[in-house]
Amino acid sequence: MSKFYVTGNKKLQGNVYISGSKNSALPILFMTILTKEKVIIDNVPKLTDINIALKLLLSLGSKIKYKKKIFIDTSLITIYYPPYELIKKIRASIWILAPLLTRFGKAKIFFPGGCKIGNRPIDLHIDGLIQLGAKIILNKNCIFASIKKRFQGKYIFIKKISVGATITIMSAAVLAEGLTIIDNAACEPEIIDVAKFLNTLGAKIIGAGTNKIIIFGVIQLNGGKYKITSDRIETGTFLIAAAISQGYIICHNTHPKNMYNITHKLSETGAIIKNGKNWISLDMRGKRPHSINVCTEPYPGLPTDMQALFTLLNTISIGIGKITETIFENRFMHIKELINMGAKITIKNNSAICYGIPKLSSNHVFSSDLRASAMLVLAGCIADGKTTVHHTEHLMRGYESIVKKLNNLGADIIIK
Ligand code: UD1
Repeated sequence: MSKFYVTGNKKLQGNVYISGSKNSALPILFMTILTKEKVIIDNVPKLTDINIALKLLLSLGSKIKYKKKIFIDTSLITIYYPPYELIKKIRASIWILAPLLTRFGKAKIFFPGGCKIGNRPIDLHIDGLIQLGAKIILNKNCIFASIKKRFQGKYIFIKKISVGATITIMSAAVLAEGLTIIDNAACEPEIIDVAKFLNTLGAKIIGAGTNKIIIFGVIQLNGGKYKITSDRIETGTFLIAAAISQGYIICHNTHPKNMYNITHKLSETGAIIKNGKNWISLDMRGKRPHSINVCTEPYPGLPTDMQALFTLLNTISIGIGKITETIFENRFMHIKELINMGAKITIKNNSAICYGIPKLSSNHVFSSDLRASAMLVLAGCIADGKTTVHHTEHLMRGYESIVKKLNNLGADIIIK
């Protein structure tokens, strides 16, 4: 368990370089099991979740070299039952299931872990694999799955939009016999990234990024090189850092096109947003933000992963703003911590009404999940006094060099 000592009253501003996307890198790492040839992946962020994914691949017998890029060779893997201690650590480990089934015709995995932000069922992943021909037996904590020869392509309507299930089904369909159509697919940029990676290896996927993805099954995938897209949630986190501290920030190595859902909301607060091909700037100098109403939705709606950060923004803004969470049912755990820092928030069903105040006060606060950790650290940076943020180990799961990056922008954070 780690904690951060955060000195408040800081203005966060300057230049920051955005890392590769965690939520693209995780599934892409597991998809390397689909080919017996070598794969080189660039722009993988250095994170504890990524280390766990790499350890999972190593535990199956993969060879990995981790320099600036990651070199992965899964040609010699023989194991199809990854260890419980690793699987339980990350939600993303569910994405190992379809590649293992494709490769071995059978797999045994424990139920995945991850952030405690709701029930986080895996029924849509399992339903999708069953529809493609898998036999699946679930017991209390384990999934036993098998397929006859290959997955069988099919029309699949996913009954609830799910990033995770869309990726699972897409990965099962690339080497399936025949055509698969995924209807009501999630459209997140990370899905486009995974599809581009698979297509680089020889898959035939079209329509990723729309709600209908068409996959023509191929016989085998080759090796290849791929560069992961930038992390849009990390970009959004730094934009919020400047917005709450009346700062001016330029985020480099990012994709403004993927950020519109976040930047257009930020411009409603009064921030001046500019962007170029691979950068976005936010200028909030000399003014307090205005409160806004936000509602999380599947892409292109506002990401649930930004919800805690927009809540923080509203707590110190002028006026009253409403935050509605529609994706996960237990994602307001950070609000108690914000209230402990002086925020005025009331919760009604899945909405939080924030009554803006000029300044938060320091306190001891406790992170419940990855994005809540980032939010509490930013809250500490602008509060009056010194804040101790406990359980910051969550933060290391999803933000590369976060303390260094924030301190470069003017924060004063010490890791304990
Ligand atoms: C991914 C992201 C997470 C993000 C979320 C929504 C990763 C590692 N995680 O999580 O950061 O917050 O997308 O953008 O990429 N659901 C079911 N059954 C299932 C699967 C999901 O009911 O089998 C529900 C979930 O409980 C949730 C909704 O569908 O209410 C969306 O979840 P989903 O998009 O699948 O999120 P994850 O893939 O877990």
